[in-house]
Amino acid sequence: MTKEERFAFGKNWQSFLAELDEDRIEQAVFSLQQLLGLQTLEGKRFMDLGCGSGLFSLAAQRLGAEVISIDYDTFSVACSEELRDRFGSKSPKWNIKQGSVLDPVLMQSLGCADVVYSWGVLHHTGAMDKAIVNAAERTKPSGLFCMAIYNDQGGGSRRWLRIKKIYNAIPSWLRFFWVLAVAGIYECKFALARLVRFRNPMPFRDWQAKRKDRGMSAWHDWVDWIGGLPFEVAKPELIVVPLRQRGFVLENMKTVGSGWGCNEYVFSKSQD
Ligand SMILES: C[S@@+](CC[C@H](N)C(=O)[O-])C[C@H]1O[C@@H](n2cnc3c(N)ncnc32)[C@H](O)[C@@H]1O
Repeated sequence: MTKEERFAFGKNWQSFLAELDEDRIEQAVFSLQQLLGLQTLEGKRFMDLGCGSGLFSLAAQRLGAEVISIDYDTFSVACSEELRDRFGSKSPKWNIKQGSVLDPVLMQSLGCADVVYSWGVLHHTGAMDKAIVNAAERTKPSGLFCMAIYNDQGGGSRRWLRIKKIYNAIPSWLRFFWVLAVAGIYECKFALARLVRFRNPMPFRDWQAKRKDRGMSAWHDWVDWIGGLPFEVAKPELIVVPLRQRGFVLENMKTVGSGWGCNEYVFSKSQD
């Protein structure tokens, strides 16, 4: 994959950083507690693979974990470092490194963690199955492996792939208008769907919900979604069955049904 076919995730995260406030951080902390089913990460090691803005690494540190964050994109790494300097604390330790989940030497060097967290990342590596195995292997016995992977919508996913390819092929000054056009069409579609169900049809009404969901920003999510290449998808059974064969037990799962977006999975690793 050439540089042009890879979305500049880190630049989008740097722009998100300007919107970050304590309210969003609190939402991120709360959503992490909900997903993991844990109130605290005191005494635990948390590995954030594909840390992006660093928001969930910060959330884990605030819950008491020692954190190691990895991202392929140097701008994401810089963004996480800035976030650590602005909002993090000296203790527990929080290390940030540039590197790829697909690099076996780097991954080995990281050791293992009580919680391996990779939200919305492994489907953007260009080799999702290998990335899932590499990430899963970093989980300590009895630890948790937590990830979010794009749902396979069949034809819908192939349409999204075309939209993403166009975003990455056009000149950078046109990309803003491409996001505006695609997001505008989808927001209107959602509004119409709400109207026929006698719900408030106002477009963009889910923007506040995004903030409430994981502390994210709807605009930056749209840019990430419309630009995010490489892009792979998977049906839940194609995630759950291979990991079960590797000794992982599914503890929690939140799917989007036949819709778009990410399915979230939390596995525990058997003790052996
Ligand atoms: C959609 S963002 C998700 C960020 C973060 N996990 C979150 O939940 O907000 C995907 C991130 O994965 C990173 N990424 C993509 N391929 C990677 C790889 N091979 N190794 C490590 N990080 C990678 C991107 O640079 C980007 O920051």
